[in-house]
Amino acid sequence: MQNIVSPPNRTSHYGLARGRGQLDPQIPASRLVTRLKLLRNTLRPTPHVQLAVKGMNLFAKLEYVNPVGSIKDRAAYWILTRAAERGEICEQTTVIESSSGNFAAALAAFTRLVGLRFIPVIDPNISGAYESFLRRICPTVVKVEDRDDTGGFLKSRLQKVKELCATIPNAYWTNQYGNLDAMEAHYELTATEICADFDSLDYVFIGVSTAGTIAGVSRRLKEHYPNVRVIAVDAEGSAIFGGAPRKRHIPGVGSSIVPPLLSHARIDDIVLISER
Ligand SMILES: Cc1ncc(COP(=O)(O)O)c(C=O)c1O
Repeated sequence: MQNIVSPPNRTSHYGLARGRGQLDPQIPASRLVTRLKLLRNTLRPTPHVQLAVKGMNLFAKLEYVNPVGSIKDRAAYWILTRAAERGEICEQTTVIESSSGNFAAALAAFTRLVGLRFIPVIDPNISGAYESFLRRICPTVVKVEDRDDTGGFLKSRLQKVKELCATIPNAYWTNQYGNLDAMEAHYELTATEICADFDSLDYVFIGVSTAGTIAGVSRRLKEHYPNVRVIAVDAEGSAIFGGAPRKRHIPGVGSSIVPPLLSHARIDDIVLISER
């Protein structure tokens, strides 16, 4: 396995307290790791389908085929497994995360399957289907109601995560915005699948929110296809590439912060999409 990043700095994740993940000497850590690794079998390569567009060979990667329904399954699986391997989480851990939907759903399903507690921190923009899914399988769901200074909810959610991590014993914040394991998930999983299916690539278009996908995929594709151009797809009203944040409605693309993982991405151009 190729290393793409130096060992992550695990003390400065957005200034929030990370869970200590202390191991109970009675329970071998490997049991949790083994259970998590069994989930690897559910992450089958997702298909690339050709779209009927004249004059170009355009393909879409169908990430909704992932087991819980989105690309976020990959980061959730990888972050939990890596944290367990390092002994940062154990069976007593309560996983905590801020999410507008997909990542929380992935964490909820995977933590439930391996027997970990999980508290999602959500906001009123979450879809009804996701909220009821989370409330069905997580004993505690925290929903922030106050908008932050950008008019969105992300900073309010992160503040709530900070409070929960400070008060809940053995809390572990997965930090999808800055966790290098999210980037590694896409370097190792998503991009490996792309490299296996295409002899050459001219352009790749990647939606950006936490930037984990574009960081991992762009790094791997630039190694494999030296001439590929990586185009970041962001939403109008997102702050990721320096715009002033304003109210947005499409979940999963855009952000009201500049995610720390963005600095790891290799981006040639940016396309802003309108929500109208
Ligand atoms: C298909 C797809 N690509 C990219 C992204 C953005 O992912 P990231 O948060 O890793 O930037 C999402 C987010 O949900 C997505 O659904």
